[in-house]
Amino acid sequence: MSSTWGERVKISVFGGSHTEAIGITIDGIPAGFAVDLDKILLQMSRRAPGRDEAATPRKESDAPELLCGILDGITTGEPITAIIWNTNKRSRDYESLRFTPRPGHADYTAFVKYGGKNDIRGGGHFSGRLTAPIVFAGALCRQLLEAKGIAIGAHVSSVGQVHDDCFDAVNVCADELHKLSTEYFPVINPAAKDKMYAEIKAAREAGDSIGGTVECAVVGMEAGIGEPMFGGVENKLTSIIYGIPAVKGIEFGAGFALSEMHGSESNDAFYFSEGTVRTATNNMGGILGGITTGMPIILRTAFKPTPSISLPQKTVNLQAGENTEIEIKGRHDPCIVPRAAPVVEAAAAIAIADMLAIEGKLVKQ
Ligand SMILES: Cc1cc2nc3c(=O)[nH]c(=O)nc-3n(C[C@H](O)[C@H](O)[C@H](O)COP(=O)(O)O)c2cc1C
Repeated sequence: MSSTWGERVKISVFGGSHTEAIGITIDGIPAGFAVDLDKILLQMSRRAPGRDEAATPRKESDAPELLCGILDGITTGEPITAIIWNTNKRSRDYESLRFTPRPGHADYTAFVKYGGKNDIRGGGHFSGRLTAPIVFAGALCRQLLEAKGIAIGAHVSSVGQVHDDCFDAVNVCADELHKLSTEYFPVINPAAKDKMYAEIKAAREAGDSIGGTVECAVVGMEAGIGEPMFGGVENKLTSIIYGIPAVKGIEFGAGFALSEMHGSESNDAFYFSEGTVRTATNNMGGILGGITTGMPIILRTAFKPTPSISLPQKTVNLQAGENTEIEIKGRHDPCIVPRAAPVVEAAAAIAIADMLAIEGKLVKQ
């Protein structure tokens, strides 16, 4: 399995939903950086399960245990490893799924690839639980970025047909992102959240699930970061964000809407503001030729509905070689999106840290 990502800031995620622990090793964090563990715990708690009716009732504290790489609160320059104990497991819910794969989940493809030897409990290594270590690494990278004046924040931009307001792609500011990045279920327009909750509740009560989108912004990025063709900012962000389970689409700036515009409408006009080049609009999401323009980076990520739903579904019995039906038991998120917002922020922070490190710009405090 390939669960390692990055060039200069490298992460390697290990474990499964029902193994003793899950964790991450992060290589490439400079020595001498004072880490604020409370800020890491805040991010972990935003993603942790069992918060409310929009999430799985499985309760886990998700408190990380540091094994190495940070001494007396200061990074040592060595690989940093943290583990998170799995304390609330109910593996009996899953045994029956080994030969009757859940539609929409990775059970069937994992069965084919690993010959039925993969850990099926709780989705094993494919579980959304594996995003907890990513949030740990992201919270660490975020602190390095904050020291350089870079802020990252995301909000639940839609649940089903209910939409939040969008970021002002030109004027989104660090304060707004700091606020969003401390909240569980962050939204820009509070009225949207009640409607989103209602959508999630209706899906849950129907034994169903619902999808949605997360919009993420990065501000404070200098112009000139990223490389053309395969080392671009879009390439980097996309490759790590697609590592988040249930992601099925990403768009930058105006994204797919650009395909319906004329160039006269889509092009972001340049102008000087106090000696700095800015753009009057930001349809390109702060990226041209894979390289940052210095304007906010804006991206939206589409999450599919949670595959495990309790409604009866058609599937196959791989052992008997016949068609069958399943009703999925276990504890599942009726909507992945609220818990995924901090994961998108974390993935973006890791990618930006890696890109700055490649340019020799991720230096110690
Ligand atoms: C935060 C988070 C929570 C998730 N919770 C669940 C869940 O409770 N039940 C489920 O079936 N899938 C859940 N998923 C999604 C599955 O892990 C994912 O759909 C599956 O591994 C297949 O991968 P793919 O959707 O990327 O193809 C969650 C994903 C994330 C990011």
